[in-house]
Amino acid sequence: MKLKIAVLAGDGIGPEIMEQGVAVCSAIAEKFGHEVSYKEALCGAHAIDEVGDPFPEETFQICEQADAVLFASVGDPKFDNNPSAKVRPEQGLLAMRKKLGLYANIRPVETFDCLIHKSPLKDEIVRGADFICIRELTGGMYFGKKMEPTVNADGIEEALDTNYYTRPEVERILRVGYQYARARRRHLTVIDKANVLASSRLWRKVAQEIEKEYPDVTTDYMYVDNAAMRMIQDPKFFDVMVTENTFGDILTDEGSVITGSMGLLPSASTGSSTPVFEPIHGSWPQGRGLNIANPLAQILSVAMLYEYFDLNKEGALIREAVNASLDANVRTPEIQTESCPEKYGTKEVGAWIVDYIRKA
Ligand code: IPM
Ligand code: MN
Repeated sequence: MKLKIAVLAGDGIGPEIMEQGVAVCSAIAEKFGHEVSYKEALCGAHAIDEVGDPFPEETFQICEQADAVLFASVGDPKFDNNPSAKVRPEQGLLAMRKKLGLYANIRPVETFDCLIHKSPLKDEIVRGADFICIRELTGGMYFGKKMEPTVNADGIEEALDTNYYTRPEVERILRVGYQYARARRRHLTVIDKANVLASSRLWRKVAQEIEKEYPDVTTDYMYVDNAAMRMIQDPKFFDVMVTENTFGDILTDEGSVITGSMGLLPSASTGSSTPVFEPIHGSWPQGRGLNIANPLAQILSVAMLYEYFDLNKEGALIREAVNASLDANVRTPEIQTESCPEKYGTKEVGAWIVDYIRKA
């Protein structure tokens, strides 16, 4: 297969983990006889510094013309504590999602047995947890009408975000949820706040209609506060969850940390144009340039990329190599066991995985 991949390494640890992701992508292409070409493009703080726009038009063109986007991370502390900054790196990510029509964000939450001890939860609660969060990605408060902090006629400063959803937006993401549920354990949890929010009542209304088309899937409904609690009390309850943009953002951070392996979780965003594959973690500016960032989420994002094109053997070999590296204790410092004298950095972990793939 021929694949044109847009490479958006972004900020912080992004370029370092991307280097390993690309190396693994190429090793797989070579092994299975695919022709993969890459085109790098600017995004995030990096792009603001160079061209004044976190998602420049040229980057959009490169993404649109590619078969897939491999994305690392964006964000820079110099913008975090400046609420009046006119442009922010995160706007680049949001612009990419909107312009590429990436309405479905697929975030698998899987545990790795050998890392369960890193979870803040008890072993018996988290071991075996395996669910997917389907997060709506181009609607809700992220994109609804906004008003930045402004002093009103009464001299009081006010601001506004609008949690706006339309029926077609809700319907299409629910259908993605049902498709995933059908391919898994046939259990879909619709997460909302229908006891308070009108937008959530639309979600629930639409879901109760659509549910009838999927009688083979068990559908249940849960308020988001309850879901946040259930996720730490009994994460194995969940198979596929589907929720709106903001709730999905919050729940997936919670999901990633309960596995003990935040640096290991990849994601896919799909929709009407080019799909994007990226780690769910951020740009970790403090770790930049130190060769300590875990490249596994980026590498597993490459597995999701191949799997998206039904290249399942390719994806499976990447997953096998990642598991083998963990079993062999070839791990970055945050997941290394104390008893292991060897030190591995971002580059060494990536190189070990590439080598495993070549020899497989
Ligand atoms: C995520 C991130 C982004 C989001 C930020 C960086 C804009 O937290 O992908 O979850 O809020 O969606
Ligand atoms: Mn987030």
